[in-house]
Amino acid sequence: MALTDFDLVLFGGGGDLAMRKLLPAMYARDRARDLPAGARIICVGRHDWSTAEFLDAVEANAKPHVTAVMDATIWQRFCQRITYVALDASSPDGYAALVAAVRDDASLTRVFYLATPPTLFATICLNLAACGMATPNSRVVLEKPLGRDLKSAKQINADVGSVFSEEQIFRIDHYLGKEAVQNLLALRFGNVLFEPLWRREWISDVQITIAEEIGVGSRTGYYDTSGALRDMLQNHLLQLLCIVAMEPPTLITPDAVRDEKLKVLRSLKKFTPATLSQNVVRGQYRAGHVNGVAVPGYRKEPGANPDSQTETFVAVRAEIDTWRWAGVPFYLRTGKRMADQLAEIVVRFKAIPHSIFAQSTGSFQPNSLVIRLQPDEGLHLNLMAKTPGDSMRLKPVDLELDFRETFKTPRMDAYERLLLDVLRGQLTLFMRSDELEAAWEWVEPILEQWEQEENEPIPYTAGTWGPAAASALIGRDGLQWREEALPEM
Ligand code: BG6
Repeated sequence: MALTDFDLVLFGGGGDLAMRKLLPAMYARDRARDLPAGARIICVGRHDWSTAEFLDAVEANAKPHVTAVMDATIWQRFCQRITYVALDASSPDGYAALVAAVRDDASLTRVFYLATPPTLFATICLNLAACGMATPNSRVVLEKPLGRDLKSAKQINADVGSVFSEEQIFRIDHYLGKEAVQNLLALRFGNVLFEPLWRREWISDVQITIAEEIGVGSRTGYYDTSGALRDMLQNHLLQLLCIVAMEPPTLITPDAVRDEKLKVLRSLKKFTPATLSQNVVRGQYRAGHVNGVAVPGYRKEPGANPDSQTETFVAVRAEIDTWRWAGVPFYLRTGKRMADQLAEIVVRFKAIPHSIFAQSTGSFQPNSLVIRLQPDEGLHLNLMAKTPGDSMRLKPVDLELDFRETFKTPRMDAYERLLLDVLRGQLTLFMRSDELEAAWEWVEPILEQWEQEENEPIPYTAGTWGPAAASALIGRDGLQWREEALPEM
């Protein structure tokens, strides 16, 4: 669907997200000829800059992050779409300048993208309403973190909901915009092959890992009040779990998909203080080596609190109480300064019930399907096959589908796709208020216990797969994380 003319207002326009992701994504779409002639981007920030000064900052800070092919003419045209408005978003006084910059035309789409701390969401929405900009043709995009617990998430939903209707609110989780996540939907609901097997009778366990090599770097200010549970698990990992576990929606329409995801979130088995210690591991990195380079521990990062108890790693064993999934463990894991940079979903099938060959059943590697999100996007299906030759020996082999190789068409970054969806008014890949609250509700007992506990997160050496307790967590079920089960190279 072609875009119609729009004003995209970026609050936090001079910030990190705008420079690293949002403006480069909009340039890429401009280059792909998706932006109509009347597309404008109004960046709002606190710096007292003119538009020309702001464009200097864009040149220095956003341009280096452009991954699309750089074309000087298109870049220049793109920059001409940008206006800068200096404004203290928390005070109603400056909004007249924004009113003047935004076009007063009811036929235009108007999007307010709040790439700001969540504490500003309510104030900005109320200020927009007060100056008459929260019109029926307006949409608002909320960047994470969407609260820091259930109470604050409910407050955000109520505050933003007092100005905009649910159909106007786009809660972003950029993992849902990733190509491989869309492909998981295609794999599950565009083929008959897996769906009959996609259940407790045939699946032994599911592992979802988002491992990062990077540390917290200069983000300690934000990260230290957040931690891996709030930063990654409550949103990205739970959203991936929903896509893996949901029942087939009747259509790929916003509410049909979001209703099914909500059912998964509400079916997650609740933790009690007694079950928590067996099912949740939190860790924090200490100094170590990543890719052969010495890196400091989390507490020694610039600006970090030397006594910080914030977790940089979390692993959880979750269960979904439904007929389809009862008893199947879903292991969720994420961490900074890990041994590798990868995001993947591993669906492991059950072992064969009986071997007809001169090999014990134990020598058969159970089939597994790996959906790779990062660094390469692809699918791996692990099967047993006969080795060539006289004897009937079976060995595991990998059927590999590399999406980049198979489809040579240019890639679309998650933010490009999600920004296009916002501009088109397409809500399927955005979280609904009840989904957000259900996700917080499930993590709440973990947060509560961590707040009460005196004990610290378990240290792990940077450049490893996290604390040994994470291996013990999965080991109690007689299983291993995928990398532990792989043969030594
Ligand atoms: C963000 C987190 O939401 O996702 C970051 O705040 C994290 O801490 C990032 O690094 C990871 O996203 P991606 O797309 O690089 O895997």
